[in-house]
Amino acid sequence: MRATTPPLSRRLDGLQSSAIRDLLKLTARADIISLAGGLPDAELMPRDRIAAAADAALSSRGVLQYTESPGWGPLREVLRTRESARTGRPVSIEEIFVTHGSQQALSLLAEVLLDPGALVIVEDPAYVGALQVFRAAGARIVAVPLDAEGMRVDVLRELLARGERPAFVHTVSNFHNPGGVTMSTARRRELAELADAHGFWVIEDDPYGELWFDAPAPAPVATYSPNVIRLSSASKILAPTLRVGWMIAPDRVCRAVELLKQGADLCGSALTQQIAADLLSDTEWLAAHIDSVRTRYGQRAHALVEAVRARFGDRIVTTDAAGGMFLWADFTDGTDTRALLPHALDAGVAYVPGSAFAVSTDYAHSMRLCFTTSDATVLTTAVDRLAAAHTAVSEGARAQAQL
Ligand SMILES: Cc1ncc(COP(=O)(O)O)c(C=O)c1O
Repeated sequence: MRATTPPLSRRLDGLQSSAIRDLLKLTARADIISLAGGLPDAELMPRDRIAAAADAALSSRGVLQYTESPGWGPLREVLRTRESARTGRPVSIEEIFVTHGSQQALSLLAEVLLDPGALVIVEDPAYVGALQVFRAAGARIVAVPLDAEGMRVDVLRELLARGERPAFVHTVSNFHNPGGVTMSTARRRELAELADAHGFWVIEDDPYGELWFDAPAPAPVATYSPNVIRLSSASKILAPTLRVGWMIAPDRVCRAVELLKQGADLCGSALTQQIAADLLSDTEWLAAHIDSVRTRYGQRAHALVEAVRARFGDRIVTTDAAGGMFLWADFTDGTDTRALLPHALDAGVAYVPGSAFAVSTDYAHSMRLCFTTSDATVLTTAVDRLAAAHTAVSEGARAQAQL
C-alpha cells in the first residue's frame, strides 16, 4: 500500500526560500566577484582575540553548562552599560535579553507580538530576513517607502489617519539593509511620537549602527519612546558565528520572549556569550577593532561609489557610502536589473536585484551592492564587468529596435 503523505502546516503556504540565498548558490563560482552576499569580511574578524577569550572562558567549567534563558549574566551586564550609554538612559538588567543573533529576536518577537492577521508595517525595500519571519507569523504586511532620510514617516502617518492599527513597525534605522540610508533625527522623533500616540511597538533593528564611516549614527529611536524594542548584534562588529544578538525591551516583553525562548532552545551558549562579554568589555581593544573595520569598509564603500560614478555617470544613482555594508543603486536609463543579472554573471560579477527586497514597489531598476568583502581594486574590476554587461545588453536592445 502507498503511504499517505502527511501534510506540513498551513503557515508554510506561500513561504518561499529567500531569492538571495538561491542567488548566492549561483555566485559561489570562483570566477565571479560577488557584490551579492551580505556577509561581513571574515579577514577582519578578530580570530586571535576570540581564541584568547575562548581559552580564558574555558578555564571555568561554568561556560559548558546550560545558562539562563535571558542570557549569560556577565554579557547582560556589559550590554547594560553599552546600551545605557547608547540610549542615554539607565537600562535595567531585566530589559536586556540575549538572543541567538538578532534574527532570533525578530522570530520570537513575531510570536510574542502578533496574532494571525495582525498588521505589521515594514520599510520598502525591506530586510528579507524580517519579511520571512513576519510572513510565517501570518501577519498582514504593509510597506512604507524609504527615501534619503529613511522611513517615510509621513506615509505612516497617513496610514494611521486612515485607521490602520499596526501591532508594530519594523525599521532598520541605521545604514539600512538593503536601502543604505539612515533615518534622520526628526523622523526618529516623529516615529516615536506616533508610537506613543497610537500605542504600537517599534522594532528598531540596528545591527549596523556602529559601522559608520564619517559621522556616528544619530541617537536611536529608542531614546524617544518606551514603545521601542531595540535590537542589535555582535555579528557585524565581532563575528556572526558567536550568534550573539540582544534586545532591549520592557520587562513584560522580555518575560514573554523568555517563555518562548525556553521552548525554542532553552538558552543560548554560555561559551560564546562569555567570549562576547570579554570582547565587548575590553573597551580600548574594542574601540580600536571597530575603528579598523570602519576604516576598511569605508575605503571599500568609497571606492565602489567612485567606480560606479566613473563608469556609469548619471545612468546610476547610488546612496552615499555613509556606513554599514551596502549601497543601493538605481539605474536611471530603464535598465531592468533582473534581466541584466545573467549577463552580469557571464561577465563575472553578481549583485542582488532590487526586486528581491520589494514589498509593494517592484524596484525593477534597482540593485543592492555589498562592498564589505573585496578590496578597492577588485571592486573597480567588478564595476568594469558590470559596465561591460550593461553595454552588451543596451547594444543588444538597440540592435533589436533597429530590426
Ligand atoms: C537588518 C538586519 N537585521 C538582523 C540581521 C540578523 O543578524 P544576526 O542574526 O546575525 O544578528 C541582519 C543580518 O544581516 C540584518 O541585516
